[in-house]
Amino acid sequence: MTRENPLLTMIREVCALGRAEFERPSTAEGDPDAGRALVQGLQAIDPGGEPSAISLSLALLAPRAPYFDQLVLDAIAAGVPQVVNLGAGYDDRALRFRHSGVTFFDLDLPDIVADKARRLHVMGTDTAHLALAAMDFHTDDVAEVLARAGHDAHRPTLFLAEHLALFLEPGDVASLLARLSGHAAAGSTLAITAEVHPADLDSDLVVSTVDDVMFGGAGPLHTIQSRDAWLALFEKTGWRIDNPDEVTAVNHFEVTVADRPTQIQTQFLTATA
Ligand SMILES: C[S@@+](CC[C@H](N)C(=O)[O-])C[C@H]1O[C@@H](n2cnc3c(N)ncnc32)[C@H](O)[C@@H]1O
Repeated sequence: MTRENPLLTMIREVCALGRAEFERPSTAEGDPDAGRALVQGLQAIDPGGEPSAISLSLALLAPRAPYFDQLVLDAIAAGVPQVVNLGAGYDDRALRFRHSGVTFFDLDLPDIVADKARRLHVMGTDTAHLALAAMDFHTDDVAEVLARAGHDAHRPTLFLAEHLALFLEPGDVASLLARLSGHAAAGSTLAITAEVHPADLDSDLVVSTVDDVMFGGAGPLHTIQSRDAWLALFEKTGWRIDNPDEVTAVNHFEVTVADRPTQIQTQFLTATA
């Protein structure tokens, strides 16, 4: 088995530890303390072997966490019966937003799903409404994985991919979006974070520069595109972006590309099938 990139391990844990720092909403049946319980003992070890400074991630999570929380609350209020969390990591939304009649599906790599299942078992929390599904977006078909997990493609679904696409190869992102739209009933929504570079730069150059400059060639980041490329990808794969002219974003990091300081943004894109 190939070892996971340790930076991906760290970033996954930083996301969950960081979100646990915020006051966030929950449903009446939900468990607002589940997030902290789920991340017990996680340290987000950095490449130097030290626990990562979670504080650095809080500015990124401050707009991101409420954006995705609100989408779940809106879906529940609208009667959407299924929430699929793609690359869920240690996300606690299935517990925080537990609601009768709503089934949550948390998809991630096998080791993470196994560890999450173990943590949920230790917590002794009610998970009757939650299906954990192990998969690899590079090799597995998301529609088949969902069907096996009990997802009903004929009923509306909120699909979430928070801080996932960046870590997948562009071809895998395209396949994922296409397979999802092909199995998304009317009334379904897809919300993702998309890493965006300025329009006049070449995406391959941006990704390879980020990899070299920031990670010495061993980085876990693979998909960064212009906003127009993201919008075109959504259209090509059967998704219609809500408010394409309205940009909702947070600045992610700056890197010098082709001798030019370049801001990479995380944009929040929401689309309907
Ligand atoms: C940065 S974490 C974000 C986790 C979660 N969405 C959050 O916001 O806390 C990215 C997640 O995507 C998952 N992931 C990355 N590549 C994957 C792949 N090829 N197949 C399945 N999951 C993957 C990772 O295991 C990780 O949990």
